[in-house]
Amino acid sequence: MNVVLGVSGGIAAYKACELLRRFSESGHDVRVVPTASALHFVGEATWSALSGNPVSTEVWESVHEVPHVRIGQHADLLVIAPATADLLAKAAHGLADDLLTNTLLTARCPVVFAPAMHTEMWEHPATRENVATLRRRGAIVIEPAVGRLTGVDTGKGRFPDPEAIFELCQRVLTRGADAGHTDLAGRHVVVSAGGTREPLDPVRFLGNLSSGRQGYALASVAAARGARVTLVAAHTELPDPAGVDLVRVGTAAEMREAVLAAAADADAVVMAAAVADFRPAEYAAVKIKKVEGAEPAPVALVRNADILAEISRGRPVPGQVIVGFAAETDNALVNGRAKLARKGCDLLVVNEVGGGRAFGSADNEAVILADDGSETPVPFGPKAALADLLWDRVAARLA
Ligand code: CTP
Repeated sequence: MNVVLGVSGGIAAYKACELLRRFSESGHDVRVVPTASALHFVGEATWSALSGNPVSTEVWESVHEVPHVRIGQHADLLVIAPATADLLAKAAHGLADDLLTNTLLTARCPVVFAPAMHTEMWEHPATRENVATLRRRGAIVIEPAVGRLTGVDTGKGRFPDPEAIFELCQRVLTRGADAGHTDLAGRHVVVSAGGTREPLDPVRFLGNLSSGRQGYALASVAAARGARVTLVAAHTELPDPAGVDLVRVGTAAEMREAVLAAAADADAVVMAAAVADFRPAEYAAVKIKKVEGAEPAPVALVRNADILAEISRGRPVPGQVIVGFAAETDNALVNGRAKLARKGCDLLVVNEVGGGRAFGSADNEAVILADDGSETPVPFGPKAALADLLWDRVAARLA
């Protein structure tokens, strides 16, 4: 996709380098348009090297290419990070005195602003009105973070976490400006993710191939849609997602405890974790040694509690929506229907796995089965897109 990264003149420009790197690594073609002030903070060479593209700074360069019109027209997404109070004011009033503001007027794609400024400037009635104007016109203006600002003061106005901006932009690229809607605001959702590890001795465990990606995508997307999110994560190598309460667990028993505790006041629980069905019956407190000339002793297994079935039966909160996942290698829909009924959940996401599909990859294809008999196919695509479709179904039930 063609992403235009507009950078206005704030110290947070250096953090936009990280955002640019995330876009480039994900295969997007990024064109950076810094304002003259932005170049005081981060120079043209950095933007050019990180984007792999020439950097356009003013309307008077390469005039024959009409850059002030072309760059905006060809963009699939325009993200302004950081967006200063001055830039927001210019955008709200349609001023066009440099290349970036011209690009804002010619772009017809979704526009995301990631503001960063001092608290007083963010709270000033002029800025409040400019932000309201931009939002009314369909732009997404991310709320700045609260924390340490430049200098000694702290407060609201900090540049949002680059990873969170990136996640939101990815959603905007798949869902359009609709991605900015916070329809889960005021809701508490619990998501489990990753694969549990059931120890056999101090150095060995029974594990599985779950990467945690789908659960993490569900948590990030729910947070972006305004929910308070508790993410109960078993083993995964993913970085911590922004804006969620993360609870780390190891075994299925620990996961059960954490999920039941968080579910006590949750509007929805999504069990995306690969919870081990069995654990070794015995835990050897010292490492099991091989014995020359003897076969290893068989490993006896016992069943773990089924967390999904337990919360589906218990339902601590009236109207709580409970979602399970099923990874099936064959007869996916028939097995999925049976599993939905057996577990007693409201929705079940069925993936066909095996042959390199789903596990560890960034994309997924699935069908969402509902207890009313309906089926929602989810076409092959990013796990964040599946997450959005699933939250659509959950939000519809909560409404
Ligand atoms: N799950 C759970 N607790 C367990 C095992 C699984 O909550 N002890 C949840 C998973 O998080 C997932 C769903 O149940 O949402 C997956 O079920 P699965 O393990 O496939 O179900 P089984 O009935 O064990 O299916 P099968 O034996 O056919 O693999």
